[in-house]
Amino acid sequence: MKLFKAVAAIATVTALTLCATSAALARTLDEIRQDGKIVIATEGQFAPFNFFNGSTLTGFEMDVAELVVKKMGLTIEWKALGFDALLTGLRQGRWDLVIASHGISEERAKAVTFTAPHYCSGGMIIALDPAIKSAKDLAGKVVAVQTGTSYLENVQKVAAIKEVKNFPTDNDARSALNSRRVDAWVTDRFVAKAVAEKNPGAGFQLGDMLFIEQIAAAVSKGNGSLAAAWNKALAEVMADGSYAAVSKKYFHEDIRCH
Ligand code: ARG
Repeated sequence: MKLFKAVAAIATVTALTLCATSAALARTLDEIRQDGKIVIATEGQFAPFNFFNGSTLTGFEMDVAELVVKKMGLTIEWKALGFDALLTGLRQGRWDLVIASHGISEERAKAVTFTAPHYCSGGMIIALDPAIKSAKDLAGKVVAVQTGTSYLENVQKVAAIKEVKNFPTDNDARSALNSRRVDAWVTDRFVAKAVAEKNPGAGFQLGDMLFIEQIAAAVSKGNGSLAAAWNKALAEVMADGSYAAVSKKYFHEDIRCH
């Protein structure tokens, strides 16, 4: 919990510092309001947070965004892209907001402005061998993670790991474990739980959490008007029971930060 507070404090300070220098390419809240629709980018390969059901983009984050944006009096134009393209495109003004389970980090907060978090979670170790549960069990092992994620960053800090293998999507990292090309996979704890529940025969063993993080949407660096409107609407859906209903639908529990 202390870590959550520290991260939140850093994010707040960063957001305040950047408010003064709104990026030239980003649309302001007024411009978005005139248009009536906000352009939101996500990945769509990270169930149950953002994924495709056939050709329909769906997931917890899509539902939360729909609730929030409705409160803002806008509609959403969705875009789905590779995880790596999301924050870059935001900086180029190609969309107004990104929601793709990004953990708030000091490094990312240099490039974008984070909104208030929409859930709290962390990176979990998953293996097929029940003996691989904790960080120390990763010594001498090959670990799969999605490129560009906080999992990569945190796994790299674990001492004595043999190799960290990067994959373009989290699904690819999971497949690598499934086919025993790696010894372990590190992903979000709720992603891990969902995968284990859906594939009871696959032998996925949920291990320890490696680290915890606050997950938030991001807007262009310094786009304070948009972040403030999003935060206000998010607080409203968190207060009126609609966030809780969506969270229970996907996770059977309320996953907001406490
Ligand atoms: N929470 C992790 C991070 O901050 C992973 C996010 C992965 N998101 C996705 N849509 N694949 O990097």
